[in-house]
Amino acid sequence: MRKGQTPLVCLTAYTTPIARLVDRHCDIVLVGDSVGMVLHGLSSTLGVTLDMMIMHGQAVRRGLVRALMVVDLPFGSYEESPEQAFRNAARLMAETGCAAVKLEGGQTMAETIRFLAARGVPVMAHVGLTPQAVNTLGGYRVQGRGDDAERIRRDAGAVTKAGAFSVVLEKVPEPLAKRITAEIAVPTIGIGASLACDGQILVSDDMLGLFSSFRPKFVKRYAELGDQADAAIAAYAADVRERRFPAAEHLYANETKAGGVT
Ligand code: KIV
Repeated sequence: MRKGQTPLVCLTAYTTPIARLVDRHCDIVLVGDSVGMVLHGLSSTLGVTLDMMIMHGQAVRRGLVRALMVVDLPFGSYEESPEQAFRNAARLMAETGCAAVKLEGGQTMAETIRFLAARGVPVMAHVGLTPQAVNTLGGYRVQGRGDDAERIRRDAGAVTKAGAFSVVLEKVPEPLAKRITAEIAVPTIGIGASLACDGQILVSDDMLGLFSSFRPKFVKRYAELGDQADAAIAAYAADVRERRFPAAEHLYANETKAGGVT
């Protein structure tokens, strides 16, 4: 329904408070395995486990009222066989209440996507730069330049044919994103893939300026909350050292007032 319509707005969330904020504005909320790098300080997404995704998925579920919730299948939880993928996708859906799962890979994952979709698991596919393959791709490089475009086109076509309900296109050149978006029947969700896509996704912590260890060109910073937090923590530290905090308004009296005091 949303193919070629008003662009789909998507963001990641890993916690209840951020889920509450993004839910008000987004069509899709992704509990991405980027949680490993953003919240757990890992150097890639490879160390993220299914249990971590379930825990963060449960936290996000509690903050959502309206957005579609998608949870990433982490590295090692789905590549072995369609049966392994189903077992772990079913756990994600049953234990987090998510409506769909996302997995990385194109032609090689088509059979798995077909298996899942036929058994009640809606799948968002992810092609182009697939961060779980960082070691075989030789880093977080742009994918699909020159002759390599055909590979990404075939990937997007294969996952769509297999039954994916949408396809994340990460870090590919604009003309390729445009071509794939025109060719496939389901919405493309771009991250570093231009306005040509049917929707856009970013990591919330990136666009809020809360995560700075890794700053790809495709991230637009809509706020600098990390700088604000740093200033706030510095002010608190100074107040404590100078004995300005706590002040009178933060103290408890001996007597309790009617209605209670927090
Ligand atoms: O893990 C993640 O957050 C993602 C999105 C950035 C697409 O896969």
